[in-house]
Order: sequence, then structure tokens, then C-alpha cells
Amino acid sequence: MTKPTTVLITGGAGFIGSHTCVELLGHGYEVVVVDDYSNSSPRALDEVQKLAGRPLTAYQADLRDRGALDAVFAAHPIDAVIHFAAKKAVGESMRIPLDYFDINIGGTTSLLRTMRAHGVHKLVFSSSCTVYGSSDATLLGEDEPTAPTSPYARSKWVCEQLLADTCDRYSEFSAVSLRYFNPVGAHPSGRIGEDPRGVPNNVMPYMTQVAVGRLERLSVFGSDYPTPDGTAIRDYIHVVDVADGHRLAAERLDDAPGLRVFNLGTGVGASVLELVEAFSQACGKTLPYELTDRRPGDAIRAVADASKVAREWGWQPKYDLAAMCRDAWRFQTLNPAGYDRAAGPTNDSARTAQEV
Ligand code: NAD
Ligand code: WQD
Repeated sequence: MTKPTTVLITGGAGFIGSHTCVELLGHGYEVVVVDDYSNSSPRALDEVQKLAGRPLTAYQADLRDRGALDAVFAAHPIDAVIHFAAKKAVGESMRIPLDYFDINIGGTTSLLRTMRAHGVHKLVFSSSCTVYGSSDATLLGEDEPTAPTSPYARSKWVCEQLLADTCDRYSEFSAVSLRYFNPVGAHPSGRIGEDPRGVPNNVMPYMTQVAVGRLERLSVFGSDYPTPDGTAIRDYIHVVDVADGHRLAAERLDDAPGLRVFNLGTGVGASVLELVEAFSQACGKTLPYELTDRRPGDAIRAVADASKVAREWGWQPKYDLAAMCRDAWRFQTLNPAGYDRAAGPTNDSARTAQEV
């Protein structure tokens, strides 16, 4: 295992990226972020630096801007890249598929080309359980056939193929693709967390916004599934555990050449109603909800077989569902309107790529 010292984090101001920045800074890494803030705020990076007690360097740039990316690589001795930057909403991807292909696949291609040009050949990639499609297997292992069913899912699947082909062609390249299940929660301090734009698509931020009074009630999508309480089952995983998995993956890039794929989940499923109950406990009030129709395209269950990452890396999640709900709620109560975009960016940490 070789520890990289300088890590480039694309999409580092986002939900999972910001937690990964804290994790890496806390372990002594130099962190460089590239983010265009299309779905995040530079304020998240201000909080990251305060939490970690150490600075990072951030550039505002679109990953597809090869010139900007080239300047970032020229300015820092980057050892490895953790690549989060992408669009991630399944429903939106049905409406604007070409944006998803352009940003997710185009961004990855641009990144790989720039890495090659600068002799950087270690990459951790954000993939998703969504590549498994709507398989209803009890536990989804990495060998489960992939069957992406949306443009978003296909964009992740294509990126995994790009990485495999790149590793085949250039033997010095090594990549790890982490297929995460349902990341939720927030840093236990409540200083950084999930701050979606508009009405949330995902269940946890929807619940926190109901509890804080921004939304009226949760619609539970489907109560006639063949599950014990009739609602769909997911593998929720604390975002700090996801961040920890990325640090470990970056440290394991030298273990083997080529592309390796790992699930990042807990292996434990929770139904929507179990989640509502856990969240109600965490926030100290009964969350208002109504049972509604199924959401088109939803799988009955999606739970990881998380044994590979445990077996090969000794990685185990540390947080349970109660902690996920507690921390998501703490972030929401400390930041009832999110990262206060109205105040505009502080630019404490954000430089434009042109300033390199
Ligand atoms: P996020 O939207 O909070 O973070 C993504 C970040 O990338 C944002 O800060 C955004 O501004 C930035 N970005 C987007 N396009 C960019 C571009 N062209 N150039 C530069 N920056 C750009 O999302 P997240 O939840 O933190 O997800 C991070 C990654 O994990 C994504 O690749 C997503 O597909 C993947 N993933 C997320 C989940 C989940 O449930 N959150 C699950 C599985 C996989
Ligand atoms: C969870 C459960 C809903 C909202 C998505 C992506 C997946 C990955 C993770 C990126 C489901 C139910 C939801 C609501 C509800 N992301 N629900 N009411 O759909 O499992 O996965 O995020 O890669 O690709 O598809 O997550 O949080 O939307 O839903 O009842 O208002 O909550 O039906 O059973 P999902 P989710």
C-alpha cells in the first residue's frame, strides 16, 4: 500500500466530495479540488477547512475545460485523483440525457486525457449501485450482471468501461470503481452535509426538510411491495463511511493494476417506513407522511453484498441508521436554509482556474 500525498478531488464541494476532503485533510494529505459549483457552494469548502483545521486549494472549473484542468495539473504534484464530479439525478437524466453523457462521460474523458498528459495514473471513481438496474436479488454482489436503466446509470456504466479500456491499454494505470448504495447523513459536527438544490429527489433530504418545516409531508412511494411492511428496501450508508472508503481506496490503488470494482454499502437493508421511524426518533417528532403510488423505475430492494471490500481491505462501516438520521438532522437544524446561497460565494478558498 502506497500513500499518495497530493490528491485531486473533482466535485470536492459536493455532498460526498466535501466529506472526503475532510477525511483526507485529517489524514495529512494535500488536497486540491476542482469544482464548477454547478450543484454546490464554495461555502462547503470553507467549512471543510475549518473542520479539518488545514487548508486546501480549490479551483472553479468545468472538468470538460481541458485548458483549465491542464493548468491545475501543472500547478500541483498530483499523485492520485478521486473523481466525484458528475450530474446524479436519475429522473433528470431521462429528460436531458445528452447533458448527462456530455458532463459525466465527457468530464471523465477529459480527466483521463489530462491525467495521461501529466503522468498521473491512479484514479478512484464514483460509481453507483444504479448500474445493477432493478435486480431484486437479495444481496447485490459485484458479479451481479449490470443492467443500467436510465441515462444516468448508463453514463456511470460507460465510465467504468472507459476505465477498464484505459487500464488495458496503459498498463501503468490503476483504477478503483466504488459502487455506492444510498449515501445519507452528514458530518457528525453538522457543519457539512447534503444541500440539494430545489425540492429533493432523495428520501433523506426530503425527510429533513419536512421535519424543519420547509416541506409539508413525505410521500412514501409504494406500500404494496413484497416486503415485510410493503415499502421498498435500500442499503443506506453514512456519508462519513463513504468518505473513509475513498481514502482507503486511494491508498490501495497500487495493490494491483487494472480496474477493480467494489461495492460500498453496509449489507443491511431498511424499508422506507423503518427509515421514517428511525428519523422520527432522531428528530424527536413524528414525521408526517402519506402512502402513495410506487415511483416508476424503483427497485423493490437494493442491498449490497458488502463482503468483498471487507475481505480484501478489512473495511467496515462504523455508523448505523440511527447515526445517519441523527447527523442528517443536525446538519439540517444548524443549516435550515442550506449553505445560504443568497449571500454569494465567499471565495475564501475558491480560485478560478485562470488565476493558477
Ligand atoms: P453532488 O452533486 O453533491 O456533487 C457533485 C459535485 O460535482 C458538485 O459539487 C458539482 O458542482 C460538481 N460538478 C458537477 N459537474 C461538474 C463539472 N462538469 N465540472 C466540475 N465540477 C462538476 O453529488 P454527490 O452526491 O456528492 O455525488 C458525488 C458522486 O457520487 C457523483 O459522481 C454521483 O454520481 C456519485 N454517486 C452519488 C450517490 C448519492 O446518492 N449521492 C450514489 C451513488 C453514486
Ligand atoms: C430511497 C427510497 C424511494 C423519496 C438513488 C439513485 C441511485 C443512487 C442513490 C446515485 C426508495 C423512497 C424516496 C421520497 C420515498 N444515486 N422515497 N419518498 O432511488 O434508492 O437511489 O440514490 O447514484 O442511483 O437512484 O434513492 O433516496 O430517491 O429513494 O418514498 O420522497 O425512498 O421510493 O424506495 P434511490 P432515494
